[in-house]
Amino acid sequence: MKLEGAAVVLRAFKPSDAPAVCAAMKDGSVARWTLYIPWPYKKKDAVKFIRSRKTRWRKGKDYCLAVVCKEDGRLAGSVSLLRVDKKHKVAEMGYWLGARYRGKGLAAEAVALLLGLGFKKLGMEKIRGHVFAENRASQRLLEKKGFKREGLLRKDLVKRGKRRDLIAYGLLKREYKPLKARER
Ligand SMILES: CC(C)(COP(=O)(O)OP(=O)(O)OC[C@H]1O[C@@H](n2cnc3c(N)ncnc32)[C@H](O)[C@@H]1OP(=O)(O)O)[C@@H](O)C(=O)NCCC(=O)NCCS
Repeated sequence: MKLEGAAVVLRAFKPSDAPAVCAAMKDGSVARWTLYIPWPYKKKDAVKFIRSRKTRWRKGKDYCLAVVCKEDGRLAGSVSLLRVDKKHKVAEMGYWLGARYRGKGLAAEAVALLLGLGFKKLGMEKIRGHVFAENRASQRLLEKKGFKREGLLRKDLVKRGKRRDLIAYGLLKREYKPLKARER
């Protein structure tokens, strides 16, 4: 599986990505806004993460791809379709980029490519995004991609010792606008 845009390539994770995954996790900014990423982050966490992506993909549970920055050829982050429910044709989106790769539009393109996989190849009817209320960058990213804010999940999860609100976003298949060739 390889999906290519103008600025990023999405491909499967490989064992040799472990040092780059560790480097992206080092400052704690990814763990801060996500649920299952440990911190401090160790090499063995990256090895386990990479190994489990393959198993989950094979089982059709999670579709997680590495985001490679075309400019420098390095691993910039990850995008995933999680909790893929083939009966209800709904999945959840997850993503992160290392701090040095943010603010360049890479996440927007990676998300657009993954939406194509979800709606066109996997036949999803809806893709959800659940975001901590304080995570403005992630909300902005979903809004830019056409996701609609559907509601506030009050004090839904515990993060850094505090119960926090989540904002539920959703994008329906009919609202999805594929990336045009000239935008790639
Ligand atoms: C979410 C994430 C992938 C976005 O990456 P990105 O697209 O490179 O982020 P950007 O810095 O370009 O921000 C995206 C948009 O949010 C805006 N934004 C960024 N930080 C912001 C903030 N603190 N408040 C308001 N808006 C903000 C940007 O201006 C941009 O909008 P624009 O294109 O209209 O200018 C990245 O921030 C990240 O990896 N965060 C940590 C992990 C995470 O939060 N994952 C998602 C969990 S739900």
